[in-house]
Parts: sequence; C-alpha cells; structure tokens
Amino acid sequence: MTLSETRFGTHPDAIDLAALPRDFVWGTATSAYQIEGAVAEDGRGPSIWDTFSRTPGAVDGGHTGDLACDHYHRWREDIGLMRELGTNGYRLSIAWPRVVPDGDGPVNAKGLDFYDRLVDGLLAAGIEPSVTLYHWDLPQALQDRGGWPARATAEHFAGYAGVVAQRLGDRVTQWATLNEPLCSAWIGHLEGKMAPGWTDLTAAVQASYHLLLGHGLAARAVRAAAPGAQIGIVNNLSTVVPATDGASDHAAARRMDGHVNRWWLDPVHGRGFPADMREVYGVELPERPGDLETIAAPLDWIGLNYYFPQTVTADPHGPAPYARMTERPGVPRTGMDWEVDADGLETLIMRLADDYGARRILITENGSSYPDTVAPDGSVHDPERTAYLTAHLAACARAARRGAPLAGYYAWSLLDNFEWAYGYDKRFGLVHVDYETQARTIKTSGRHYAEVIAAHRNTRP
Ligand code: FCB
Repeated sequence: MTLSETRFGTHPDAIDLAALPRDFVWGTATSAYQIEGAVAEDGRGPSIWDTFSRTPGAVDGGHTGDLACDHYHRWREDIGLMRELGTNGYRLSIAWPRVVPDGDGPVNAKGLDFYDRLVDGLLAAGIEPSVTLYHWDLPQALQDRGGWPARATAEHFAGYAGVVAQRLGDRVTQWATLNEPLCSAWIGHLEGKMAPGWTDLTAAVQASYHLLLGHGLAARAVRAAAPGAQIGIVNNLSTVVPATDGASDHAAARRMDGHVNRWWLDPVHGRGFPADMREVYGVELPERPGDLETIAAPLDWIGLNYYFPQTVTADPHGPAPYARMTERPGVPRTGMDWEVDADGLETLIMRLADDYGARRILITENGSSYPDTVAPDGSVHDPERTAYLTAHLAACARAARRGAPLAGYYAWSLLDNFEWAYGYDKRFGLVHVDYETQARTIKTSGRHYAEVIAAHRNTRP
C-alpha cells in the first residue's frame, strides 16, 4: 500500500479511489459571468446579469461582475493553477453576449477568438475542456424581446450554439447545453432572486418550457456542426424528504421533488412533463407538436450539480410548489447556510443511474462556501471545505462501487468568484482570490484535491 492509499483508503472518510475508473475526469468548474470580467470589452454586449447586478438591492454589497476575477486577461495564469492542482478537465461556460452580442444576428469574432485561445491553452496543458453554452447570462437584447418566456429565445439559443460548435467543435468534444435551468426559471422568474428578477408563475413555467426546448434545439445544432460531440445537460438536484410523517408534509415533499428534480429530468428522458406538477402550477404549457421529441434529444451524458438536501414542509401561502425547506437541528451547514449531507450525492447518482438509466454521469459541480481568511504567512487554511470535498468524493466512490457509471467530478469552483446575488462575500474556490490585487492563492483544500488526484493515479485497479 502506498502512503496515499493509506491516507485516502483507511481514514473514516476514506475515498475508495480504486472504485473510480482509470480515465476519471478530475476537474474544476467556473462560469463566464462569475469570473471573466471585461464586460464591455472586445464587443461583448450586455447580459441580464449586467442589468440585474445594477438594480439597487438585487445583489449584496451592490457587487457586479464588471471585473470579477479578471479571467478574461488572466486565463493563462488560471490554466497554470489547474495544472498545479493536477486536474485533467475544466468546465467553463461561454458568454452568449460575447459571441452574439444581440442574441441573434451578427457574430462577434473577437468573442469567439477569446474562447478559441482558451481552448487551445487548455488542450496544450493536457486539460480537456467541457463547454457549457448557457450559464445564465442571456443577452439583454433578447430579454428586451421577451426573454425565456418567449419561444424565439429557444430558437436563437440554438443558432448561437451552432456558431460556437462550428468554431470549437474540432477541438471540444464535451458539450453541455444548459446549466441549472431550474435556477433560470424558478429563481429568476418565480422567486425574483436572480436575473431577470421576475415573480410571475406563468412566465416562470413558460421559461422552464422554453429552456428545455432550447436544450433540445441546441443539442441538435451542436451535433450538426460537430458530429463527434458528446452532449449533456446540467441539472442541480436535491434529495427531498418530508419534515414529518404527516400526510401534508409527504405531499409537500412530493411537490418539491417534482419542482426541483422530476420537472427537469422527466422531459429530457422522454417522459414528458410530470402530470402532477402541471396540476400544481396550473399554467398551460406553450406546447407545439414535436416539441417533446425535440426536448428528449438523445443525451450522451448527464451532469449533476449537488449542494444540499431538502427537508420539506407544506407552505400553502408560499409560491409554487407550496412547500419549503426546514432546518434540521444539529446538521452542519456551510457559509451559504446549506446543510452538509454527502450521502445525498450518492443517493442522487444512484437515482440517475437506476431510475433514469443514465449511461454516463458527471458531477459537474459540487463544493462549499466558507468565510476563508488569509493567514499572516499568506496561506489559506480551510479545513471545513477540505472535509466537505473529501466526504463528497467518498460518496462518489461509493456510488461508483455500486455500479453507477460515474465518469468525473468537477469541483465548484476553481476560483473564488462572483456568487450571483451574494456578490463576492461567498467564497467557493479551491483557490483564494484577493479582489484588490487579483492575487491567487491555492487553499489547503486545493492542495488536498491535488493529493487525491495524484493518489488516484497511483491506485492499482
Ligand atoms: C450553482 C451555480 C454556480 C454557483 C454554485 C454555488 O447553482 O451553477 O454558478 O453559483 O451554485
């Protein structure tokens, strides 16, 4: 047994590294608006997040993504960090408003050039890019024409997806259409806590429909432009359990499961939109013949973003699905106030494998925010994040041992970054960012991740 095997194989939180395939993808993830900055450079058009972050009171501290991690200029250094961590995969998103500033119409060559250079840089470093086409930064011009509640947005999304695939498809194989459409639809249009900041159930349901339609149309466009493409969709799922044994909490948990899990999984797996949830929302879907087949375009892989479990009680006065999360006393929580529950990750991986027949599963995001501090010697010691990472990797390995086709893990996030409505105060990075100087420092958790990756490489099958 090597030292690494002892360290990761016999500890109570042991990661059964031998259960993970030899070609496992060890990655980190980011998204364009959260790290790039350069929002008005080289022809980029405004996105709904530029608008939302400028809306008084929308984002903590009035923060915006104007500069963020300045990744647009520092991407070479950031690839260097990925190499230092020993990762072999990187999940990035493309900013639609950089490539097609008005959402449809003229293509901005300089925008495409940026991603072209980035992809080449990653490949030269031995890091495989996984490209997400939409991570919430809709061109404002399309919002002005109705946004996701309008069907045309789905069609324009496919047009943009085809443009990107045509340019990068000779080097990029891994493609995701959407990141967490749940957040775009429900948090953006129903709860109003993310761009575009609406609180309108009808618009939210229409947005959810057109997001999934856009997924199907974009999948088709990417395949046409890049025949070897491996296409997936990224959903954030939660385990959902009732807070009590009462019938109303059971019904609430069923609704919440429909709202966060089944509404997004069933249609892309050819099962249509869940009938019980159609009834809960009571909103007519803007369906046209053939849409369901489009939405159920064959998937090469499915992406799972996992952060927290949900213990749910009925909330008749709240917004749909008339259920809300409750706190379980004594359960540890992250800086986001999210419960830490690594078993939930194992459960969800098995659900994708067993209930949905997933053939290839990638953990496209998983991570934790804690209020990190920089020690006088310049180091950032983050034992809680390290423990979170270890426990969740152990859960991944358990699922793989049980036969789930788990192919990779992308830690959220490479860098501390703009955490949407929470601004810069919530830090998820394996690498600390000093926003005054843009200095990057690999945290203890990042070093630990590097050790796990190295240990896996040395593990005998
Ligand atoms: C996910 C988002 C990602 C990041 C993490 C913490 O919902 O996809 O951009 O904000 O949460």
